[in-house]
Amino acid sequence: MRKFASSRARSPEPSPTENRVRVATDTDIVEARQVARALAEQLGFSPGDATVVATVVSELARNIVEYASPGEILIQAVENGSHRGVLMVASDNGPGIRDVSLAMRDGFSTAGRLGLGLPGVRRLMDSFEIVSGPGRGTRITVKKWISRRAP
Ligand SMILES: Nc1ncnc2c1ncn2[C@@H]1O[C@H](COP(=O)(O)OP(=O)(O)OP(=O)(O)O)[C@@H](O)[C@H]1O
Ligand SMILES: [Mg+2]
Repeated sequence: MRKFASSRARSPEPSPTENRVRVATDTDIVEARQVARALAEQLGFSPGDATVVATVVSELARNIVEYASPGEILIQAVENGSHRGVLMVASDNGPGIRDVSLAMRDGFSTAGRLGLGLPGVRRLMDSFEIVSGPGRGTRITVKKWISRRAP
């Protein structure tokens, strides 16, 4: 049996399955957000879930700009058996977070902001890991899997 490949011409050039965006300014936040959305859509996330992925990248990038510039965000396709999804790693060599569990609480902010970024990211993702400490910078690793549609 022969297979016919059809490509949906949603974007003329498919984005690579691994992207690194250097994050230092507000413009980089916008770029990281766009790269994340493009990859998520290319991988088959629903438009709503692609927005979730883009929002998470934008929160992580905003924190880098606000507290630890410069840093970078890696956005990468991942597979685990029949599951496909996206992995994002936000890393910087900034001051680090002294009390990580405090920073993960709703409403905690050292900048007079809402303090909803990190706890929101954790809620939106399927997995969340943060490694941070004074003088060690911050690395946040998150994953989201494509939810299976009903057959
Ligand atoms: N990359 C980082 N480096 C150093 N400190 C960070 C970093 N990301 C977050 N923090 C610290 O963790 C706190 C909580 O972050 P979170 O994103 O949850 O809230 P926020 O940025 O203060 O407010 P919001 O995201 O709601 O605008 C920040 O106020 C800041 O002190
Ligand atoms: Mg924030």
